[in-house]
Amino acid sequence: MQAKHRFEQLKAQADRLAAVTLASMLQADPARAVDFSIRVGPLYANFARQGYDREALGALNALAESASLDTAFRRLFDGETVNVTEGRAALHTALRGNLSQAVAAREAFGTASEVRQRMCRLVAELEGSGLTDIVSVGIGGSDLGPRLVADALREALPSKLRVHFISNVDGAAAQRTLAPLDPAKTAAVLISKTFGTQETLLNGTILRDWLGGSERLYAVSANPGHAAAAFDIAAERVLPMWDWVGGRYSLWSAVGFPIALAIGFDRFEALLAGAAEFDAHALNAPLDRNLAVRHALTAVWNRNALGHAAQGVMTYDQRLALLPAYLQQLVMESLGKSVKLDGSPVDGDTVPVWWGGAGTDVQHSFFQALHQGTQIVPLDFVGTVRNDDPFAENHLALLSNLFAQSEALANGKRSDDPHRSYAGGRPSTMILLDSLTPQSLGALIAMYEHSVYAQSVLWGINAFDQFGVELGKQLANGLMPALKGESDASDPVTKALLAELKARG
Ligand code: F6P
Repeated sequence: MQAKHRFEQLKAQADRLAAVTLASMLQADPARAVDFSIRVGPLYANFARQGYDREALGALNALAESASLDTAFRRLFDGETVNVTEGRAALHTALRGNLSQAVAAREAFGTASEVRQRMCRLVAELEGSGLTDIVSVGIGGSDLGPRLVADALREALPSKLRVHFISNVDGAAAQRTLAPLDPAKTAAVLISKTFGTQETLLNGTILRDWLGGSERLYAVSANPGHAAAAFDIAAERVLPMWDWVGGRYSLWSAVGFPIALAIGFDRFEALLAGAAEFDAHALNAPLDRNLAVRHALTAVWNRNALGHAAQGVMTYDQRLALLPAYLQQLVMESLGKSVKLDGSPVDGDTVPVWWGGAGTDVQHSFFQALHQGTQIVPLDFVGTVRNDDPFAENHLALLSNLFAQSEALANGKRSDDPHRSYAGGRPSTMILLDSLTPQSLGALIAMYEHSVYAQSVLWGINAFDQFGVELGKQLANGLMPALKGESDASDPVTKALLAELKARG
């Protein structure tokens, strides 16, 4: 059966369930509270509050089968050319494990292991250098992953090097980050896959000048020769990455150098081991018990069968506060596509808008709209069972809020007063980590990576290119002479804006 027809079947399932409330679905089949959950190592996910019943879930699983998701995972792990528009593999799994016997994957695993050993030595050198601070310069995939993991896993009182991140081209970011630091006690890592990114080159120059030369500059790039030449960095301080690692999938490579500096090399390796454990599950678990597949199918259900245009991720662990920002790039840069692999238009909608924040703060800001607004926004709730801070009562309060929000959104509460009535029927997935460790965080991030890939296969799109970001970059580069007053713009609105700058600047 054709994928298009399978999607129509999903819509038919949604129509069948249109009049069935989530609360009544849960009442009619209480066993789903347990049956609709999947555990993988330290990761537990419960899908019982999603708006599909067992029959609809059967249709979703049939879609996964007909799309041959198991073969698709095998192709990914084997290093086949899954990034067809750029003619590349996407071998991020080989950065953390050797689950494939394919030559490309084995070679990638070997090369990545060698570079990791070099990185280990650089980490040891820097730890023993007497330096106190590291500034990581990069943007997008060369920033968000390291920033998330370093923040999530750092100790409350850092005993290692303090790591800071600069990404935005706005000079205020560099100014504020550098102001409290001592250049004599600081080193910088410039991270850019291409080493052609405007933001990173400009901020890298600021760092080189601030440090008074390149002696304490390090670089990570798939273009190492260029990186070394452009900033006069000695070859032994330049770590390579490769075109078979996508930027937003690269935190497991030398792009994770700042992570290892912030949390220690052993814990960086534990992060990789946690991801590799999840990789084995994604590759080998049957599709109907595969957590990445279930997560992807849930996304497709909410987007294509129910038509929800947004998806939220709410973290009930302060240390994961940067997860939504990280996932926005992973999910939206990967899945924000309108054409299939062969260039033809997609059959239906692809990625919804992803957004989110950290609970409980968000409950006191935008959750009003989630409870009573006209748009339904499916959510991923992410929490941790055990905390590592000494404030037990707070942790119980955090968990009570986490469970309460999911329950309130799903079940609602009727009132005679329409202003005080909660419609319910607002779906969510509950993801719980046993505790926040390098292993569990590695597994969580790998789960999202594989869900994104599975969604791309279901939609027939390429998860590994990002041509959509290029036009704006080209225009910005082209406008630099106009901003310097050396030329004019051709677009009339931009012309007017430039005139405004000139008048007020
Ligand atoms: O914003 C587009 C993008 O190409 C991302 O995909 C990438 O992660 C980021 O820019 C940074 O690119 P680079 O690592 O080459 O500097």
